[in-house]
Order: sequence, then C-alpha cells, then structure tokens
Amino acid sequence: MRLESTTIRWEQDDSGIVTLVLDDPNQSANTMNQAFKDSIAAIAERVEAEKDSIRGIIYTSAKKTFFAGGDLKDMMKVGPAEAQQAFDTGTAIKSSLRRIETLGKPVVAAINGPALGGGYEIALASHHRVALDAPGSKIGLPEVTLGLLPAGGGVTRTVRLMGIADALLKVLLQGTQYSPRRALENGLVHEVAATREEMLEKARAFIDANPASQQPWDKPGYKIPGGTPSNPKFAANLPAFPANLKKQLNGAPYPAPRNILAAAVEGSQVDFETALTIEARYFTELVTGQTAKNMIQAFFFDLQAVNSGANRPKGIEPRQVRKVAVLGAGMMGAGIAYSCARAGIEVVLRDVSLEAAVKGKGYSEKLCAEAVGKGRTTQEKADALLARITPTAEAAALAGCDAVIEAVFEDPALKHKVFQEIETIVERDALLCSNTSTLPITALAEGVERQSDFIGLHFFSPVDKMPLVEIIKGKRTGEEALARAFDLVRQINKTPIVVNDSRGFFTSRVIGHFINEGVAMVGEGIEPASVEQAAAQAGYPAKVLSLMDELTLTLPRKIRNESKRAIEESGGAWTPHPAEAVIDRMVDEFGRIGRSGGAGFYEYGEDGKRGRLWPGLREHFTKPGHTIPFEDMQERMLFSEALDTVRLLEEGVLTSVADANIGSIFGIGFPGWTGGVLQYINGYADGAGLPAFVARARQLAERYGERFTPPALLVEKADNGERFTDAR
Ligand code: NAI
Repeated sequence: MRLESTTIRWEQDDSGIVTLVLDDPNQSANTMNQAFKDSIAAIAERVEAEKDSIRGIIYTSAKKTFFAGGDLKDMMKVGPAEAQQAFDTGTAIKSSLRRIETLGKPVVAAINGPALGGGYEIALASHHRVALDAPGSKIGLPEVTLGLLPAGGGVTRTVRLMGIADALLKVLLQGTQYSPRRALENGLVHEVAATREEMLEKARAFIDANPASQQPWDKPGYKIPGGTPSNPKFAANLPAFPANLKKQLNGAPYPAPRNILAAAVEGSQVDFETALTIEARYFTELVTGQTAKNMIQAFFFDLQAVNSGANRPKGIEPRQVRKVAVLGAGMMGAGIAYSCARAGIEVVLRDVSLEAAVKGKGYSEKLCAEAVGKGRTTQEKADALLARITPTAEAAALAGCDAVIEAVFEDPALKHKVFQEIETIVERDALLCSNTSTLPITALAEGVERQSDFIGLHFFSPVDKMPLVEIIKGKRTGEEALARAFDLVRQINKTPIVVNDSRGFFTSRVIGHFINEGVAMVGEGIEPASVEQAAAQAGYPAKVLSLMDELTLTLPRKIRNESKRAIEESGGAWTPHPAEAVIDRMVDEFGRIGRSGGAGFYEYGEDGKRGRLWPGLREHFTKPGHTIPFEDMQERMLFSEALDTVRLLEEGVLTSVADANIGSIFGIGFPGWTGGVLQYINGYADGAGLPAFVARARQLAERYGERFTPPALLVEKADNGERFTDAR
C-alpha cells in the first residue's frame, strides 16, 4: 500500500529545496498521531525516491505552534495491553525521521513557534535549527513534568548533541522551556531570526553552504561530548549523577527522572539505533504507569480547564483592569503590586504613611533589579514597570481605579474601615477584592455598600513566584464580579481556582490537616526526624514541622479558637485534634512559636537560618523505640488532606475536581506525582482507585482516629464504581 501524507505538505522550489509544511488539517496543532505517522513515512519514502532532484529539506509549520508533541489523550489510555502498539507507533515515526536525517542532504528545522516535546524532537532530527523569535515561543523537552521522557529520539539526540551532563541538566531532568534566545544561549538551536522570512532565508543559506550535511553523530570518528561511562575518568564521576538526583528528589516517588538518567547513560554506550530502543523501553514503562497518568491529568488537562475558564460564569463579556488600588503595602500588598504592574496594569499602592507605601514599592525595585541583572528583562521594561506603581497614603489618589485589592492586617474591623474610606472614591463599579487568608468573605462584604461586587482573592506568598490565586465567592457576590475576578487573575498570568465561602476556604483549611497530622505524630512519641522524612518521601516540597515553624505556631491556635467559637455558637461541638496539645505545650511551656520567634520545632541562628530539630522534642515528646509503619506516616498526611477535600466537595465549598487538584498542587504543595488531591484518590494503589482508598482510610481510622473515616460521598462513589471527574 502506498502511504499518503495528509498532515505534511510537500513544497518544492525550482532550486530543489523541499519545504515540509507541518499542517494537520483536522487539528489546531500538529501532534504525533496516526496520521502523522503515515505522513512522515510517506515523506521518507518520497525523499528517498526523489533524492536526486532534492538539494535540501526544511521542516516548518503552517500553524502557530511548530509542533505540539505526543497526543496526551491517547497516552492517558495506554495500559500494559496497548503498550506494544504505542511502542511500535513511536518506533515507526522515529525510523521515518531517521531515514530523512541520514539521506545525505541538509535538513533544517525552521521553528516558527513553540516546539516542545515532539516538536523539538523533530528539530533535533534536523542538522540545523533556526528559531523564530516569536513572543511566547518556547523550546525544550518538558516530558519529565508530565511523568514521561522524550522518546522520539529526544534522549538519544540531546546526549549526542551536548553530552550526558548538559543534556540531563539543561534539557531532560528539569524539562526547562526556553525562549528562542535562551535556547540559542544554551545550545538547543543554532540561530534565531526576527521574522519568518529571515528564518527561511537562514534555513536556505545553511542548505547552500552545506550541500552534503550530516548530523555530528553520523560522521566518522564522532565521540559524545564530555565522554561516556566507557571512559574511566567519566565513569569515576558517574555515581554522582544518581546521588544528586536522589538528593534532589528527596526520596519522592517520581519515576521519570530515574528512567531519563538510565536511558541517557545506557544509551550513550551503544550505537544510535540501540539507544533509541533503550529510550523507548524506558518510556513504555512510564507511560503505562499511574504516575504519568496522574501528572498528565493535573499538569495538562486540569490546568488547561482551570486556566481556560471552565469555572468562569458563561455569557459575561471579558474585561481588563486598567488601574488597580492595592491597600496595604506589606509583604502581600507589595507582591500583588509587582504582579499587577508586570502585567501592564497601573497600580496605586496605599499604606498608612507615604513612607510605608514607598517601602512596599521598594520590593518591586528589588525584583526588577534582580531580573535585569540576570538578563530576564531589560532596564527599559523594568523602568516602565516601576513607573506604573504610585505609592501613596492619600485615599484621593485612588480615583479612577477600576479594581481594589485589599491586603492590610488580618483584622475584620480594619478591613471594613479601609474599604469604607475608598468605596466612593474609586470607580463606581470597581471590583472590590480582599486578600484575606482566613476571614469569611460574606461577613467582610458587609463592610461595603456594593456587596455583589465584593469577592475574595487569596494570593500565596511570595506572590511573584506563586502561580495560584484562590477566588472566594461570598453569599452575595455576583456572577459579574466572579467573572471579572477571574479575568483579573488571568490578566496577571496567574491560575485561578474558584471556591465558595467557608472558614479557611479550600487551601488554608486543607493544609491545616497536613500540619496537624505531622504535629500529632510528634505528640504520639514518633521521632520528629522520621516525621520530616516521611513528608519529604511522600513528595511534599516542605517538610511538615519546618512548614509549621514558618507559619508560626500561634496561627493555628488563633484559627482554632475562632473556629471553635463559631461552631459552638451555632450549637455544634468542637472535636479537638491531637495536634492541639502539642502546639499548646510548644507555645505555653517552651515559648517556641516558630521561626519568627527564633525558636520552634527547629532551632534558628541569629541570622534566622534554620538549624537542627530542637533536641527538646526528643526529651519531652519522643517515646524511644515507638514507631509506626513508615507508609502510615506518609499516608496519614496525604489522606488527611484528601479526605477533607472530599468533605469540602460535600459541603459545596469546592465545585470542581480540576480546581481541587490544581489548587492543592500549586497552592499548598500537595505532591505533584499524585496529580492533585482528588486524582490521588482516583489513582490510589496503582490505579485501584476509590475502593482501595476507602478500605485504607478505614484501616487508618481504626489505627489513628475517627478523623480518617471516609466521608459518605467517597463511599458512595466507590460503591458505584465512579471516580472524581468534572462533567465537561
Ligand atoms: P503585613 O503585616 O506584611 O502588611 C500589612 C500592611 O497593611 C502593613 O504595611 C500595614 O502598614 C498596612 N496597613 C495597616 N492599616 C492600613 C490602612 N488603614 N491602610 C493602608 N494600609 C494599612 O501583612 P501581610 O502578610 O502582607 O498580610 C496582609 C493580608 O494578606 C492579611 O489579610 C493576610 O491574612 C493576608 N494573607 C497573607 C499571606 C501571607 O503568607 N502572609 C498569604 C495570603 C493572604
């Protein structure tokens, strides 16, 4: 059967240059689907047949994106049974690319837009890479961030292009996405062009100058840069790689980095074709496993749903904020001002004195200076950003603001006061947002006239780095305000999740369970160092006791007292958590409130640097020899958060699974390998899912307390054979 190319257009000019235009007619972006597999095979056949009339080959694309990569929907379905087919498809595509690469004619990738994953792998199968410096264009192999590895020749070719160490560190292990300029600096591409015409001219110029071009690795006498394990000097350094990786992962269960390392090292010791096979085997192991599915679900599908507005009210025209009032120029206000100004919004930053407001602006000055120093921005752009921030102490300066973000002290009376001062000064329909971290939004809204325009906008610290914003809808918040809040969060390039009002909302409430569980284990007499290790090995970015110290031990006490009062006032009974007694002793008996007080679960130096765990913990809490299974320690933390998330769904605080997953990973450090707090339940025990999770929760409840009893919604879903998904 003669194959036909349906997704790659063949355009040959009079001089014999063939431009292969990647242009899948059925999709908005080109992917490595079945049609591409057939097309590239047909192209390989044709270039071989018409070799004599061809002077060179250029890959480029008719889409905005050069090439998007593998089809992730397909990958979600690959189980052990489909693995062989996936393996064969991958092998077929690679062999076609290889036939073109080794034709003996120059092959150039004219990278007109984002080339990530499979896209960059096509570029790697070219002898020369010219990237168009298009805004927002990204180049790299981010597979590791989805729990995978680049199996379209990505491991094999980067190792041969830049050597094992650089390939691992610059491209494969972090999955860094480079701008075209930075891709050039790091050796991922050879040239950058300012326009499409210039890009194609450069591609043609390479073909003219290199009529018989070959890949470096196909030339006689080629050696992998920097050496391979067969070189004794290199071999001596080899153990450092897994050791560093282990340190980096801190024992967290991410299989992809391990497989990438193995594929790179093993592949470097064999011929090119065998290296491709090794890479594919390691890929197959990953794609059939649960972690990749969790990570694709969260970091691709859920993130896309959340950012594209699956939760934004429909039918409301998008609006952009022009001028925002930030009230309070403390740690949060200063960071919010910077994020808004960076997105091009005018900012009026108000504090009690001009001096305090100027100090708040100083934070942006510091960040700008750093960014200029590191070449991440230009002096001109930094100056323009800073010129957009006006520090003030005067309410009158807020005239013309079409949005307000309040970040004064966490005191309801003060928050009411600062809104009253400015409500009649800002635009009549200005969006009114509070960055409270714990106070119920409905009650705060009572301090303003236009309660339907009032909403919670919960940022995370440090604001300039943390991508998440939790939008909290109060009882009287209007749909219009919700849509505008959503648009504002997107305008400043952050990820919005939407929740209904409740004490602690979603994030603050759920992270409290993680901390409580860690602290409770110390109270039971388990070695504090083991508790910290359990958190690290579960994949939490911050160890549990050190996080408690950062947040300050008096904070959970304050929240507890307020919650207790609220519950008792409404006729309920407070169920104490075993962590409470430990925190009380730490604060009252030992005066250790955490890092801000210079002493907590850890010791701190004069400079505030964290030292060792406080030896007093062993003396006052640890029961020598007392321990519980390590797995129980990890799962007590993970389950406590997951179970309360289900309760939040039951209570209607959360309304979207994607929001829960994304919010848990990006807001409160729930381990990324799980795919987020509800995907963790879906994928529990290698995909056994809800029934296995329920059984394990019951076991934990028996061993450690009723707080692990699975909520009714979870049991019901498990019984019905359902999972946590959004109906879309
Ligand atoms: P902060 O203490 O660093 O800053 C508060 C600022 O508000 C101070 O600069 C103070 O001078 C100013 N202020 C007080 N009264 C004012 C008034 N009448 N008019 C204008 N400014 C006034 O506090 P931080 O950490 O920035 O927190 C601010 C808010 O953000 C709080 O509601 C907090 O709960 C919330 N939040 C804090 C997070 C954190 O990690 N620190 C995370 C998320 C929310």
